Amino acid sequence: MKKVKKEKRRILLDFCEEKKHNIENYIKKGGFKALKRILKELKPDEVIEEVKNSGLKGRGGAGFPTGLKWHFIPKKIKPKFLICNADEGEPGTFKDRELLEKAPYLLIEGMTIASYAIGAEKAFIYLRKEYPLAKERLLNAIKDSIKHNFLGNRILGTKFSLDIKLFVGAGAYICGEETALLESMEGKKGLPRLKPPYPAVSGFLGYPTAVNNVETLCNVPLIMEKGAEWFRSFGTEKSPGTKIFSVSGAVKRPGIYEFEMGKITLSELVYEVCGAEKIEGVFPGGISTPPLKHGELDVSCDFESLFQKGTFLGSGGVIVFDREIPLIKILRKTAEFFKNESCGKCTPCREGTLWLWQILKEVEERKISKEGLDLAIEVCEKIKGKCLCPLGETCAISCEVFIRKFREEIEGEI
Ligand SMILES: Cc1cc2nc3c(=O)[nH]c(=O)nc-3n(C[C@H](O)[C@H](O)[C@H](O)COP(=O)(O)O)c2cc1C
Repeated sequence: MKKVKKEKRRILLDFCEEKKHNIENYIKKGGFKALKRILKELKPDEVIEEVKNSGLKGRGGAGFPTGLKWHFIPKKIKPKFLICNADEGEPGTFKDRELLEKAPYLLIEGMTIASYAIGAEKAFIYLRKEYPLAKERLLNAIKDSIKHNFLGNRILGTKFSLDIKLFVGAGAYICGEETALLESMEGKKGLPRLKPPYPAVSGFLGYPTAVNNVETLCNVPLIMEKGAEWFRSFGTEKSPGTKIFSVSGAVKRPGIYEFEMGKITLSELVYEVCGAEKIEGVFPGGISTPPLKHGELDVSCDFESLFQKGTFLGSGGVIVFDREIPLIKILRKTAEFFKNESCGKCTPCREGTLWLWQILKEVEERKISKEGLDLAIEVCEKIKGKCLCPLGETCAISCEVFIRKFREEIEGEI
């Protein structure tokens, strides 16, 4: 993972270097310093306040302010839970994997600090089953952290205890959605719940639960060690810190990169950093985020700038595509993924994604003419705003935008 020219101020990826999946190394490089200080000097509310002041926003896709999420956890109800979402099921997204495999202690320290802040004594890591190395390293890290008393009973001689358990998912995209994840952890089929109530109020087994992404939690020890102001010196005012991007598709140098939020444009990322040449478009944050055309890439990579362009930063899974693969195939495959992964609980998503895929397949196979694209748009419009969770919603938005933006090219192909 060599640093590229534009990656001047990396935080998390630098942490992944130097074999920090070994506890001695992690401690030698300053690991668990933040936890020691917090347990000695700070009250839980002061930790929440610092994270709030840092402006850290969730890196799992929705960008919800982390400190605020913790603040919503009721103080008086017990027990409370923290869950680290390590499902990473969004196509094109593989940034959490790097952190899980190379910085498991950073995650454990982040989870311990977060649990202390919200008053949880039990935490879980919901890991996708396709990450066996991460599983091995996490189990090892949990064991060694307990041995060093950074985890377990009466951590570092204080009254605070924390038990972290690993939960391995069976491999369903929907189980990355926080409420479906909770259902699956409760031994049920992974179907999303109606929100509200949000997990912060009624989560795992009906108790207050904070669900946070791996990258979000890995930022926490650094914020607590160096302070909110330090964190705010990275990125933009509204999107502080850095962001890890996983880049794949029609580029010469796919991989993971970390940049300050808003300090690199999508165009610089795909052309200069990743060596793309003649491309058609980019999904900026996984296939659930509407694509941008090659002429629209002069946009900063941060939550607000991408939103203004009608799309999302999402999970940071940048997928670049050219004409090597027909656009209609990319579109049909996108719909196919959502059709396969739709849990079936709500009708607009279950039926809509199926119809959408069927229509696009027939267009691709030239069984129906290009008017099929109008029908596909109509189906997307019928799905939008009617689903129980964002799976169907994002499928409809992403596919509709794809058709509207690339219509001429798709018609040319068929
Ligand atoms: C279909 C679907 C899949 C999701 N998959 C993930 C995932 O794999 N990892 C993740 O962190 N968040 C995922 N999310 C978002 C979570 O519901 C939730 O917002 C997130 O874990 C909160 O963490 P954060 O606030 O730290 O970002 C998914 C959402 C949806 C709708």
